[in-house]
Amino acid sequence: MLHTDILDLLNRQINKEFYSAYLYLSISHYFNSLHLNGFEQWTKNQAQDELAHGLRIYNYMLERQAAISFDAISSPDRQWDSPIDAVLEVYNHECSITRSIHDILKAAREHNDYSTEVFLHWFVTEQIEEESMADKVLQKLKLIGDNGGALLMLDDQLQKTPPATDMQAF
Ligand SMILES: [Fe+2]
Ligand SMILES: [Fe+2]
Repeated sequence: MLHTDILDLLNRQINKEFYSAYLYLSISHYFNSLHLNGFEQWTKNQAQDELAHGLRIYNYMLERQAAISFDAISSPDRQWDSPIDAVLEVYNHECSITRSIHDILKAAREHNDYSTEVFLHWFVTEQIEEESMADKVLQKLKLIGDNGGALLMLDDQLQKTPPATDMQAF
């Protein structure tokens, strides 16, 4: 049986992962409106990854016979002032998700829940990658400034980013 604190944190994390998918999809839609199709594809792939993260936790909770709550998912923003603003939101959001995963890990340790601790290791590693990718794009956008040609080159590079790899959770 999962401790009620862990149960609550995992349920909230499922909601956060699905919100992340919604946020990425909204950002993807924003990039579509700017005709930046590489950025659009990158964030759409990320949205799929986030759904897989939510399902990974859902499947773990099923295995542990834990009660799953289906809370309302908040509406994400729909407009940003510039690509850099949108990617900054991605980066800040990923950092907040990392803190959230670490909080669950801390609670699992406090309650001697070794199973949940081991389960969360995958997420800890995944978040390193998520933050790093968002930061790389952010730093490049800072270098690009208002150079339209360089922005299109980065867009082209992102178009070649391999698709989501986390779909096995389905
Ligand atoms: Fe995630
Ligand atoms: Fe993420």
